[in-house]
Amino acid sequence: MSDLVTISNRDGVAVITLQNPPVNGLGFAVRSGLQAAFDSAATDDAVRALVITGSGRMFCGGADIREFGQTPPAGTPHLPSLFDAIEALDKPVVAAIHGVALGGGCELALGCHVRLAAPGTRVGLPEVTLGILPGAGGTQRMPRLIGVPAALDLIVSGKMVPASKALTLGIIDEVVEGDVDVVEAAVALARQMADENRPVRRASALDDKIAEARGKPEIFEQFKKKMARRARGFEAPYACVACIEAAVTQPFAEGLATERATFQRLVASDQSKAQRHAFFAERQVAKIPDVPKDTPTLPIDTAAVIGCGTMGGGIAMNFANAGIPVTVFEVSQEAINKGLGIITKNYAATVSKGRLSQEAMDTRLGLISTTVNYEDLGNADVVIEAVFEEMGLKKKIFGTLDTVCKPDAILASNTSTLDVDEIASATSRPEKVIGTHFFSPANVMKLMENVRGAQSSPQTIATIMKLSKTIGKIGVLVGVCDGFVGNRMLYAYRRQADFLLEEGALPQQIDKVLYDFGMPMGPYAMGDLAGLDVGWLIRKEQAATRPKHLRYSTVADRICELGRFGQKTGAGWHRYEAGNRTPIPDPEIEQLIVSISEAQGIPRREVTDQEILERCMYPLVNEGAKILEEGLAMRPSDIDIVWIYGYGFPRYRGGPMFWADLIGVKQIYDVMSRLHDEHGDWLEPAPLLRRLAEQGKGFGDL
Ligand code: 3HC
Ligand code: NAI
Repeated sequence: MSDLVTISNRDGVAVITLQNPPVNGLGFAVRSGLQAAFDSAATDDAVRALVITGSGRMFCGGADIREFGQTPPAGTPHLPSLFDAIEALDKPVVAAIHGVALGGGCELALGCHVRLAAPGTRVGLPEVTLGILPGAGGTQRMPRLIGVPAALDLIVSGKMVPASKALTLGIIDEVVEGDVDVVEAAVALARQMADENRPVRRASALDDKIAEARGKPEIFEQFKKKMARRARGFEAPYACVACIEAAVTQPFAEGLATERATFQRLVASDQSKAQRHAFFAERQVAKIPDVPKDTPTLPIDTAAVIGCGTMGGGIAMNFANAGIPVTVFEVSQEAINKGLGIITKNYAATVSKGRLSQEAMDTRLGLISTTVNYEDLGNADVVIEAVFEEMGLKKKIFGTLDTVCKPDAILASNTSTLDVDEIASATSRPEKVIGTHFFSPANVMKLMENVRGAQSSPQTIATIMKLSKTIGKIGVLVGVCDGFVGNRMLYAYRRQADFLLEEGALPQQIDKVLYDFGMPMGPYAMGDLAGLDVGWLIRKEQAATRPKHLRYSTVADRICELGRFGQKTGAGWHRYEAGNRTPIPDPEIEQLIVSISEAQGIPRREVTDQEILERCMYPLVNEGAKILEEGLAMRPSDIDIVWIYGYGFPRYRGGPMFWADLIGVKQIYDVMSRLHDEHGDWLEPAPLLRRLAEQGKGFGDL
């Protein structure tokens, strides 16, 4: 018998246990072991019933994702036939679930005749998040157990549900109470079922729940309409709906075949490759070669935030949401009232949408205290500064913090452009200084670029990376440079978009191309949302040091000069009607752009959608290559995470660096070289891009 699957006979009940840490993944060896254990129990006359369970932290995390797309393909048995055989057995088979049962793990449980769960168990079919669908009977058995509407919600969202909800839905049959061990309970039940000769209940044979949806195709049409916004661009959610519909319209065996064929098509798709890449990238990002996993961290039990403006308020909310008391420091009571008012309004909006209880809101607000005295910050374990973007001001504040905060406290800055090392130089503890670059709105966006200064200590880095996780964010460790990883790449993309305006494109065309590519919005709609004035101020400050030999577009400045700062002034790159955030193309802007082209002597020409995509996205990738070469991001997949979580880069494209590999680095290099010849220095291919292209490699090979 395989070491990965064990079997023991408990007085006529065979207990089959998955033993494949960390998640009891159902790779080839486990499938073979499970098949062998099952065959032996099925044919052994001394075995009257079976229990299937998992050892360690969980029942089972599903199929081994690493096997997908492997050449040669992983061998048999495959999960669907294995689960069919389990379900077809006449001896009772009980699943004893704890921790999580996800994906193939959940489908294994659905193949059993009864499902018992320990308290705290969570179950779900998250395959859709990997660009695939439950491919081992999940789309066929789940609707038969819980009905079509609930199955659509579960499978298309990919969300886990807690045991209590799984019980109400009918996914599991019982949650064992109190101290009872779930395996013991399952063994007792399996034995009793055998003793009483109880007929087994097979999910595949159930019909009453799906019968309710039969002859009602509108259920699926309506669901697709409802999910359209969230599923835009993704293939898998639609495939899930189609297979659930097949469960209703086709007999079980045919539905299973439909599911299998769809699964195989999706596994081979670029979208699934990209989403699997994102899954592993998300786990890789926490690994820092010179800051090992066991690096001691400092406890963060209390926090402080300096400045309660747009960012500071959101950052304070993150601490309160995670149950960490936070003190907010501002220049005046007036500023405190304003900031706290916005925080309160934000929470109230969530309460009114039914996503937060009034009680939880009160608890969270209760965790936020305010002060205008630095002395009140002495107790904080971490302080995050979020005042105006001015080096002088930040240095002054860090100097003060250094004197009032306890020696162990970490001092972090939310700066979006400034040199963290220079900020650290204002303190006597540069090893405890680090950047924590949140994205706006800080209480919503999941990304934190954690900026390591030259002297940030491993302990500081490890503590802040852990803190990111505690407050529900994904922390990506980056190095010090202007704009860090995300915004530095964003500049490269926006710059070319502005040049394209001067050459013949219009904001609405560029926005549409990038929206259709899968970005949440195009650069100009995004600018209008964020506000154009801040960037304008920065550009004015930098005007004196701007390299004169490089091309500069004045379009953005000219728009600001008209007092058009975006949505907040009712007009920016586009115009807006009162109370409506939909951008409307504005002939005034078109005229302005045409006049700028004329004044610059740039003949306007037709700019194709393909050119827009290449001119914006290839320089973005190129800048990513420079960042890698400069060591400012640890790996290409970290850059992908920055873009997926900070800018809404479509997950089904895997992030810019993974997408570049799909296109082919050589192709990108060739186009960049041509663009460089045509448009000059900003577009010079990065040496790393050239090297990879010459070697026929991609970023994934680094
Ligand atoms: N296959 C391969 N590796 C997996 C895996 C899986 N299904 N699930 C987790 N891992 C790996 C992770 O990459 C990580 O590896 P690392 O240590 O080398 O970085 C390690 O296992 C531990 O994972 P986590 O750090 O995520 O551990 P947590 O304890 O935080 O979370 C979990 C556990 C909730 C199970 C989480 O790992 C998870 O969500 N896993 C994926 C679940 C999933 O999507 N299942 C569906 C798979 S597809 C399928 O089943 C197809 C079927 O329908 C045919
Ligand atoms: P903001 O102007 O909305 O807020 C700044 C706040 O700091 C104001 O409430 C102000 O009263 C307060 N403040 C000023 N001087 C202070 C002092 N001496 N002590 C205490 N408080 C003081 O600015 P915003 O947008 O929140 O930006 C803050 C920081 O976050 C900047 O460094 C910015 O670059 C960075 N950032 C901004 C992002 C954004 O999208 N707005 C995104 C990521 C980072």
